[in-house]
Amino acid sequence: MAFPFFKTEKKAILARCRDDYATKMRLKYAPYYHAMEEQKGTQVRLDGRDMIMLSSNDYLGLSFHPKVIEASRAAVLKWGTSTTGARTSNGSRTFHVELEEKLAAFLGREACHVHAAGYLSCMSSVATFAQKGDIVVGDKNLHSCLWDGIRLSLATVERFSHNNPDDLRNILATASPDVPKMVVVEGVYSMEGHICRLPEIATLAEEYNAFTVLDDAHGFGVLGRQGRGTIDHFGLNHKVDIVCGSLSKSLASTGGFVAGKRELIEYLRTNSKQTIFSAALCPSQAAVAMTALELMQSEPEHLERLWKNTAKYRAILKNLGLDTWGSETPAVPIVLGSKERVYPFWQALLEKGVFTVMSIAPAVPPGKDLIRTAVSAMHTDEQLERIGEAMAYAMKKL
Ligand SMILES: Cc1ncc(COP(=O)(O)O)c(C=O)c1O
Repeated sequence: MAFPFFKTEKKAILARCRDDYATKMRLKYAPYYHAMEEQKGTQVRLDGRDMIMLSSNDYLGLSFHPKVIEASRAAVLKWGTSTTGARTSNGSRTFHVELEEKLAAFLGREACHVHAAGYLSCMSSVATFAQKGDIVVGDKNLHSCLWDGIRLSLATVERFSHNNPDDLRNILATASPDVPKMVVVEGVYSMEGHICRLPEIATLAEEYNAFTVLDDAHGFGVLGRQGRGTIDHFGLNHKVDIVCGSLSKSLASTGGFVAGKRELIEYLRTNSKQTIFSAALCPSQAAVAMTALELMQSEPEHLERLWKNTAKYRAILKNLGLDTWGSETPAVPIVLGSKERVYPFWQALLEKGVFTVMSIAPAVPPGKDLIRTAVSAMHTDEQLERIGEAMAYAMKKL
């Protein structure tokens, strides 16, 4: 009886969840959280049926590479399954340092720090370096981890139109020259498949003296020499202060990284809560990432195959007249414009044995409701043909 308002608040929270659940049940919302029973490369088994996986981010197809699997097994045998703690308490191991040194060298950076999730890496890349009183200018279509980082920093936020340097210029030009500024972009926008207009954006950041953060979760492994990423693709390493990304895409692991000048990474290690208070990357994740990184350099055929598959897949979609939002990369959206069109399209693909994922407003801008697909180096020619047939069938169904 002492605090009756607590009861009311708890009721409100429970009611919120109950309403949400009821809506999902009414709409027969089931497309997400599907549990697959089996996986072999790009083939998965779902509800007892074999399907082609067309929405994973295993761009280089290394998640089933024998050397990667062996490295994971060996790491567990040597180090056990987990570090069971943060780097700052009991979690730091030589394999963390080795992976960080190799990533830093590959990216042409002085230092690197790895986290147990890309989300943590990218969020902390913003939250650590911006603070209250600063201005953070971000592309409107940034990933949610970057928005979370911006919110945590308590800096003032400005958004510029997606991949539009002119709009960025307008914002930077009106900001006070005395206020510290940060520009946040992605190397490759994963929903749209667009490559960042980095040459213009980096030049503007330099002109207005802004600190730059680039999230290359979808550019790493895909663009640049041996997959060094978007910055290398444009040859602009000296113009970006912090590059962050994920180990869960081309590197076939889970986890994330932040790379930059040594003093920046050391600052992150002692000032970022996401870094100080979260458990360290586990041994098998680190071993997988390290081996995949070596394979990116010793086996160029995966990157070549990825781009060959991307060209083939894009040609299939173009022949069918599908709108791919001008995607320039292996992340290819199929824009259908409304959820009423997206759902039957997605279901028709499923019926024909192709697994994809829907993205509906507000996750995408209004009118851009889409099916997100991504090509892997592991897709076979036969699978790409079957995907083409399934797309043609889904179009007829519309
Ligand atoms: C652009 C971008 N940044 C960061 C992340 C987070 O990476 P992770 O899934 O490894 O936590 C993602 C993941 O989807 C992403 O697309």
